[in-house]
Amino acid sequence: MKTLTITRPDDCHLHVRNGAMLKTVLPHTARQFARAIIMPNLKPPVTTVAQALAYREEILQAIPDGVNFTPLMTLYLTASTTIDEIKRAAECEHIHAFKLYPAGATTNSDAGVADVTKIYPLLAALEKYDLPLLIHGEVTDEDCDIFDRERVFIERYLLAIVTNFPALRIVLEHVTTKEAVEFVESASDKIAATITPQHLLFNRNAMLAGGIKPHYYCLPILKRETHRLALVKAATSGNPKFFLGTDSAPHLTHLKENSCGCAGCYSAFAALELYTEAFEQANALDKLEGFASFYGADFYGLSRNSGTMTLEKCDWMIPASYDETIPLKSGETLRWKMV
Ligand code: DOR
Ligand code: ZN
Repeated sequence: MKTLTITRPDDCHLHVRNGAMLKTVLPHTARQFARAIIMPNLKPPVTTVAQALAYREEILQAIPDGVNFTPLMTLYLTASTTIDEIKRAAECEHIHAFKLYPAGATTNSDAGVADVTKIYPLLAALEKYDLPLLIHGEVTDEDCDIFDRERVFIERYLLAIVTNFPALRIVLEHVTTKEAVEFVESASDKIAATITPQHLLFNRNAMLAGGIKPHYYCLPILKRETHRLALVKAATSGNPKFFLGTDSAPHLTHLKENSCGCAGCYSAFAALELYTEAFEQANALDKLEGFASFYGADFYGLSRNSGTMTLEKCDWMIPASYDETIPLKSGETLRWKMV
């Protein structure tokens, strides 16, 4: 039996929600990952240290007995965020970053930032306190084609941000385009990116050819094949600027299979298996450990994990659903399985 053992990985971009959904999905992440950067786009959003600490307690309660998992909390940046709150966050050992959602860009982003240039004083504070800024990098203009929104965000906002705040650590989250890869590669070592399993494995045909498949709909949306190939090249290059962030984003089935379906792919149930398949296809299994277990921790200034996880090459079928959530590739076969 072919096996692969790597240092226990970290998920540097994860949605676990709260309430009943949290109880369903968190065990899936906790069995594979030592830590995860937890997204703050709850309803209402997690905008203060006090809210993040309460959310952290709820997450800790959902970890199965005997499982070792640490949630790394983030705060949701809004136009009303105060410099005092940024300072408090920097002083709190459990808060690791702020997340910037352009208002209206994605799920629960209504409280996000309408005009990024108006929050420059907040970006200056993040730079001063050395707290990373995590960016959902898409413009929201109705007249901007949805397939161009990431590229235009980089041109219109991100180039100016990195010029104005050269010491600010930034993660361009869930990159989906060749232009985003090129931007990150050519930027300073303060700038990194996460890549999801779905953007490594699929192009937009998976979502749109032969019938519309809502479980492949996420934001930023799947792009054409040339972009997928650029992402695979970046992820498997060994460049520490690119690391694992699943963006696993569960939604109830009826909210995705809907005339106006929610964005988000649920991948946490087999995140490592999905990435392993992508790396194997690219003949780059030797590059998986850096991407999954080292570069994210290094970027966040965390120690690397000490335990290991092992995957074996064996076919298994992905269940049709987990409670009321349909996983990515539901009912299909995966080629690797965590031992
Ligand atoms: O597809 C997505 N789903 N993209 C995001 O940015 C948010 C996420 C969610 O929270 O459902
Ligand atoms: Zn996300």
